[in-house]
Amino acid sequence: MMKREHSMTPVQEQRLLAETFLQHVCWMEEAGSTNSVAMEQASRNLPLPALFGADLQRCGRGRNQHTWWADAGALTFSLLISPETFGIRPSLWPLLSLATGLSVSRLLEKVVPDSPVQIKWPNDVYVHGKKVCGILLETVPEQPWLLVVGIGLNANNSLKTAPAELQQTATALCDVSPASFDRTDLLVEALHLFASELAALSQDSSQLIQGCRERCYLTGRLLTVRHVATSLTGMCLGIDDDGALRLMTESGPQRLLTGEITRID
Ligand code: BTN
Repeated sequence: MMKREHSMTPVQEQRLLAETFLQHVCWMEEAGSTNSVAMEQASRNLPLPALFGADLQRCGRGRNQHTWWADAGALTFSLLISPETFGIRPSLWPLLSLATGLSVSRLLEKVVPDSPVQIKWPNDVYVHGKKVCGILLETVPEQPWLLVVGIGLNANNSLKTAPAELQQTATALCDVSPASFDRTDLLVEALHLFASELAALSQDSSQLIQGCRERCYLTGRLLTVRHVATSLTGMCLGIDDDGALRLMTESGPQRLLTGEITRID
């Protein structure tokens, strides 16, 4: 995983099929949004889990109507899964964002072991205090038992070529490590860790919550969180047993199950 020439080595579909739980892989040179591709393909009754990835994603979508910048060398892909096949019942779906973020964190702890890795609730992954991975989970309206798990990891795409405002807040693996990263290696390991995280979650959520607490980027910081039409400001007290974010506001303790962090002081 550690040689410069890996940065543009093609992703090996056959290896992904042979070494992971995937039953279908479609790797594209270019796509608009891999989440949109996964949604479109959901009606085809493909064998699942399926993965849709792209060397270059032109119109990546982020949470809360944001866009996701990616350049050649990034790892951008979407999994189409039926959580039930991993033993994840519907009541556990709200924890899948955290579970995905934690599995990516565990991956980064292996591949950039000298870099501090943190989770910014609900599912951004940070290294050295900058965002390196974004996660977008979407349900499939016509097949509500299916879920699209979209992951954008800045791997070999240096942020030095990114829009200026992103350079302040985001980073890439190649910007924090002299290595370059074989994307198939990263995918195989990420999928193994994702499967382990779901297996653990299907039994008990305490290990997931503990893992997120240990890596929480927000605990002890003063935050503003927007949720629908309201904004709450308060000191972050960490993550509750059900995955909610705990805030101490001027009017007392609050819990948020979803929301967008709009300010961190
Ligand atoms: C966020 O940070 O707001 C989430 C970003 C998610 C980006 C990934 S890249 C692969 C997948 N396809 C998309 O269009 N979005 C996700």
